[in-house]
Amino acid sequence: MSQTWWRGAAIYQVYLRSFADGNGDGAGDLAGLRFRLPYLKDLGIDAIWLNPWYPSPMADGGYDVADYRDIEPVFGTLGEAERFIEEAHELGIKVIIDVVPNHSSTESAWFKEALANPAARDRFWFADEPLNDWQSIFGGSAWTQVPDGQWYLHLFDPGQPDLNWNNPEVHQEFEDVLRFWFDRGVDGVRIDSAALLIKSDTAYEDLDEVHDVYRRWREVADEYDERILIGEVWLPDQERFARYLRPDELHTAFNFDFLSCAWDPADLRRSIELTLTTHTPIGAPPTWVLSNHDVTRPVTRYGRADTSFAHGGALHGSPTDLELGYRRARAAALLAMALPGSVYVYQGEELGLPEVEDLPDEVRQDPMHARSGGTNPGRDGCRIPLPWSGEEPPFGFGTGTPWLPQPEGWRKLTAEAQRTDLGSMLNLYRTGLGIRRELLGDGTLTWLPLGEQVLAFTRDSGLTCVTNLGANPVPLPAGRLLLASGPVVDGLLPSDTTAWLSPES
Ligand code: GLC
Repeated sequence: MSQTWWRGAAIYQVYLRSFADGNGDGAGDLAGLRFRLPYLKDLGIDAIWLNPWYPSPMADGGYDVADYRDIEPVFGTLGEAERFIEEAHELGIKVIIDVVPNHSSTESAWFKEALANPAARDRFWFADEPLNDWQSIFGGSAWTQVPDGQWYLHLFDPGQPDLNWNNPEVHQEFEDVLRFWFDRGVDGVRIDSAALLIKSDTAYEDLDEVHDVYRRWREVADEYDERILIGEVWLPDQERFARYLRPDELHTAFNFDFLSCAWDPADLRRSIELTLTTHTPIGAPPTWVLSNHDVTRPVTRYGRADTSFAHGGALHGSPTDLELGYRRARAAALLAMALPGSVYVYQGEELGLPEVEDLPDEVRQDPMHARSGGTNPGRDGCRIPLPWSGEEPPFGFGTGTPWLPQPEGWRKLTAEAQRTDLGSMLNLYRTGLGIRRELLGDGTLTWLPLGEQVLAFTRDSGLTCVTNLGANPVPLPAGRLLLASGPVVDGLLPSDTTAWLSPES
């Protein structure tokens, strides 16, 4: 891979707890992931990003980190993590881990020490009474009282006390944590809630001082070869967003504007153009993301009347045409893979899994559900353990009962069932990622004017990508058909379909 592998990489997101279970306890783990590495190699990805794998009471699926330098026993051991990194590297796959600097866990050594000793509270936000009326992002107050009467701040769950980035010890700790993992061969870190670290009395989002943190982190990353920093930065203001990607800060950040965008030609064109004009002047490669562990699965989202995504769960359970959603998700996948920059694939996206919307409340584990008083279903529906093979649950996920139930109907969606079906979502992703590796990735695009309902552009390699978002079929431009997300008959591209063409030779 080139010096700057990350600029055009296809990055596969592994939500470890739901990927593959190697020891039969119903939860995914490193043994399961290592066993399935050949699947990922075959899929044609360049890197794996793992959600937090650290020891955690799982108040928020592992985003409540008790120890940043070890592995959650349910997932395996530090030794296994080191072996996994080596094995991935042997297959030419880079490894990106999640670092959670905004908050830690009530089970962390620092928080336990703070509880035991009021003089040791400065690493968190403790006060005699709530300093403001902030609400937790998961619902309810952002302040919780401890037995001696003081209160601490948690922007998320009470199990996730916010760290105080005014304290130099916190800075030192995270720089050490970065080195700890870079020394073990990790190729990059995804920075959780990256814009929230710095707090004033009245605000916590995107305060200017946060950039000092990332300038320092960039220096740490640059002590090593080709290690990257990826920001989880949800900011609608693109100018503010771009500040995180200045040459001495983060390498890339997730494109949530594109992820949230409706399946609509004008909206998508706006988002793509905005993304390009935001990134090009600063020389940062855009990223293209359709889903992750926090959002509704595209097959479901694109099958609804409102195809945009917003947090809050308001659209949960609204009427859904899954066939339509599936067709659009296929078209969106080829569109995202063709755009200049890097692309993310969230586990199960390549299998066309829908959101599971009918989970019984008693199995839901996402704190969003409980803290919203049940009004928000939470994110469990996009975190269901993967179906690998077989006719019934647990579908080859492992030998135990999966920690969240899988729908019976997923027998048609297993990786095994799709492997031999040339028209499957899995094979669309495999073929698409293979072509992408040769002809797409980093670079620029040139728009082709094929009408308002059509998004069409040619890439530096000459590959043309055409997506028809209108109701009627449209004639494809000249070229040899390389791949299409649906049937192309007599040179006509059907509605909700994407085709890739190479110049005629
Ligand atoms: C990020 C994660 C999400 C988590 C939150 C708090 O948004 O993606 O899953 O709940 O941060 O850590």
